[in-house]
Amino acid sequence: MMTMRTQVGIVGAGPAGLMLAHLLRRAGIDSIVIENRSRRYIEERIRAGVLEQGVVDLMHEIGLGARMDRVGLVHRGIELRFDRRGHRLDFADLTGGKGIMVYAQHEVVKDLVQARLDAGAPLLFEVEDTAVHEIDSTRPRITFRHQDEECEILCDFIAGCDGFHGVCRPAIPPGVLTVHERHYPFAWLGVLAQVAPSADELIYAYSERGFTLHSMRSPEISRLYLQVTPDEDLDAWPAERIWENLRARSAVNGSWHLRDGPILQKDLTRMRSFVAEPMQYGRLFLMGDAAHIVPPTGAKGLNLAIADVRVFARAVEEFYKAGASDKLAAYSATALRRVWKAERFSWWMTSMLHRFPDEDSFGHHMHLAELDYVTSSRAAATALAENYVGLPWD
Ligand code: PHB
Repeated sequence: MMTMRTQVGIVGAGPAGLMLAHLLRRAGIDSIVIENRSRRYIEERIRAGVLEQGVVDLMHEIGLGARMDRVGLVHRGIELRFDRRGHRLDFADLTGGKGIMVYAQHEVVKDLVQARLDAGAPLLFEVEDTAVHEIDSTRPRITFRHQDEECEILCDFIAGCDGFHGVCRPAIPPGVLTVHERHYPFAWLGVLAQVAPSADELIYAYSERGFTLHSMRSPEISRLYLQVTPDEDLDAWPAERIWENLRARSAVNGSWHLRDGPILQKDLTRMRSFVAEPMQYGRLFLMGDAAHIVPPTGAKGLNLAIADVRVFARAVEEFYKAGASDKLAAYSATALRRVWKAERFSWWMTSMLHRFPDEDSFGHHMHLAELDYVTSSRAAATALAENYVGLPWD
């Protein structure tokens, strides 16, 4: 058995685990990050693509803004489409100059992995059979196998950054967590297409045929989504059907044209809202998807994970520097205030923009009235905008 010792053992090298390791290292706190997937897998997996203003600022603050500034796309607004008309929400104007950055999650992951390796700090990939132990003691342990060797990490704290299907949340004894959950009766068919985006900003479109979102990854690559049924068969969606649906659902009066091109990848995203609370048990702290899930409408998932990590990093820092545990004790309550607001926003955007099964004409008019309100009232537009660019951290 190979035994290692560190201050914070981090399970999971997604954006949460890697960002945590980075923030801790800057504060002089040691950590070891373990990940069951390969480096290649986490650096290539297509996930979210939008960073809130606060996350953009944080990337700069921690010295990781260079590549983001070079290849990321700064957006100062979005378009909402319904009833064959488009309406721009000007975030910069509505929020006092804030915006978002279109920069893919796996690019953030690449930057963080590179920084970790450059610093010579421990990051182990392809570990197997990870388990956490004695989490309600002051000496929690993580065990796993790495390159055929049985390993153990002795630490002061464990950060569960291992996602919704990870081992950390289930390690909390039964009866401790309360789960709040909602499943939506639809999913997103996502495509990555080799074609320049047809608009400079993201377009969220509601139509009687369902929701569609036009996003992008670069000036040459579009990322597009269509509302479909939860158990949709991707093989039933050849390229022509995808483009026909995208076109019909985002059609406007006038001359807007959707460019099409080769489809590089297709995937299906289930939609759910999920919160497990508290986000802590003993010396195990849950961050990101390990504790909560939002439906992707509004792009809050990654941003929320980073917000959790920031709260936890500050609390650990206070523990080691001042010997105070108040912030650690308040971690769950502090993080959950933001979590619930992001849950509300994501649920609201999802509800406003999707067709629900068996929706009648009254339901249809509720969507239209809400969208009309959001795009014609400055107060309502500001409420959307300030959530989209990210509520204040503290
Ligand atoms: C994306 O580009 O993947 C994306 C953008 C905005 C969303 C969700 C996903 O609301």
